[in-house]
Amino acid sequence: MDFKTQTLGAGALAALAGDALLVAVAGKTVPESLEPALAALLHGVIDDGEFALETGKFVVLHRPRGVKAARLVFAAAGDGSARALRRATAAAIAALKSGGTRRLVVALVGVAAPDDTHGEAVATAAAEAVYLYRHTKPSAPVPSRLSSVVFAVAKGQAAPVDAGLRRGAAIASGVELARECANRPGNHCTPSFLAQEARRLGRSHGLKVEVLGRPELEKLGMGSFLAVAKGSDEPPRFIVARYQGAAARTAPVVLVGKGITFDSGGISIKPAAEMDEMKFDMGGAASVLGTLKAVAALKARVNLIGLIPSCENLPSARALKPGDVVTSLSGRTIEVLNTDAEGRLILCDALTYAERFAPAAVVDIATLTGACVIALGHHRSGLFSADETLATELLSAGEAAGDPAWRMPLDDEYDEALKSSFADVANVGPRAGGAITAAKFLQRFSAKLRWAHLDIAGTAWKSGAAKGATGRPVPLLTHFVLAQAK
Ligand code: BES
Ligand code: MN
Ligand code: ZN
Repeated sequence: MDFKTQTLGAGALAALAGDALLVAVAGKTVPESLEPALAALLHGVIDDGEFALETGKFVVLHRPRGVKAARLVFAAAGDGSARALRRATAAAIAALKSGGTRRLVVALVGVAAPDDTHGEAVATAAAEAVYLYRHTKPSAPVPSRLSSVVFAVAKGQAAPVDAGLRRGAAIASGVELARECANRPGNHCTPSFLAQEARRLGRSHGLKVEVLGRPELEKLGMGSFLAVAKGSDEPPRFIVARYQGAAARTAPVVLVGKGITFDSGGISIKPAAEMDEMKFDMGGAASVLGTLKAVAALKARVNLIGLIPSCENLPSARALKPGDVVTSLSGRTIEVLNTDAEGRLILCDALTYAERFAPAAVVDIATLTGACVIALGHHRSGLFSADETLATELLSAGEAAGDPAWRMPLDDEYDEALKSSFADVANVGPRAGGAITAAKFLQRFSAKLRWAHLDIAGTAWKSGAAKGATGRPVPLLTHFVLAQAK
């Protein structure tokens, strides 16, 4: 999809030819600044009870009088914030997308000067609204014809909105990549498929991509990662993807993404209900690829490295068993009390591997625990970090991106739960506080790093009728990485 701004004089919206015009109206009353033809129509639909200036409401008019565009949508944009505009845009496009609209003009009225946050909101909402998964569904409806979105602004207001549209388009391309990967079924999206996607991204966006297989991983000593991979015939892959946008000596940001392409639980097998959703257990990996794509598209002046340990977690005659003790890359031993707590077993080795890059910061992203879904639901990702600055940066990135997180504790008391009689650490504690003990496990392997952990088990996908990947937290991560460039 193509995004740009168009500068208009007074009274020009009604005269714009186009398929559709979206007028997002901030405030609770018809703004004084709204040009007469549109104000008359807006008063009309409000007086007739067809529409109200209340969050979430919109109305579609076909061939409205005095307006050149074939379709006119009025959508309430609440307080005029980027968040409200994102919601208004999403609702309006959902209503228009199956029609013939190719080019949509968006105007925000009742706000003195739209800025970059508004541009970003329109671009991300538009791209998200037209996304359609098709790969394994030949009967999927025809994709939306909407291919161009124009943000109409007054004279002198184009520059910040333009910058926002560009950022939004890049984030949207990353979100789309993440959704495309995570939506694919486990028999298509294997560790080798993820490696191939990474290589492809490397070619299109100038990344250096290296993929390690079983022999290299054995030589390195990633005993914990390999123990999870052992139960599957699908070969494991460890992906290292590097984007260099700053001087070589600049310390990189490292993102580590959990890449379990299917999590059956292993010998500690999961119940059958909803087990299909465990194909999304590579949502962290997908968000790392998506963020690399967005950051590279924006040519950000940072160095960014993505690390993706990827394998399947299956039961078999060769699978890891409860009670097994494995030796991690760090040299420490782990007693595997539950083979379904496999995410932390692959991430700990990737975190140790991250040390070699002397990174400025390391963030791991993982669909790690069901307990995090119980704690925070589906709106906010769980954020864990002992580093106050890093935690604050990630939280503000989430707010700015409309992809919010919530800080969770890491008190030492929670660590007791991971004591083992047979190894240096156990891979699970009791059920209570499960998201926190999982984070405490990872923290043990991050002592030499400036580290944070995002548990995205509740935010990386939606269950129910509109089942599918969300592409989160690509927006949060992209904002975080861009902020490191300043
Ligand atoms: N991938 C799951 C976590 C998960 C569960 C993500 C539900 C999304 C929705 C993870 O590997 C897992 O199985 N975790 C266990 C940990 C337990 C055995 C300590 C869990 O959450 O039940
Ligand atoms: Mn599991
Ligand atoms: Zn898992």
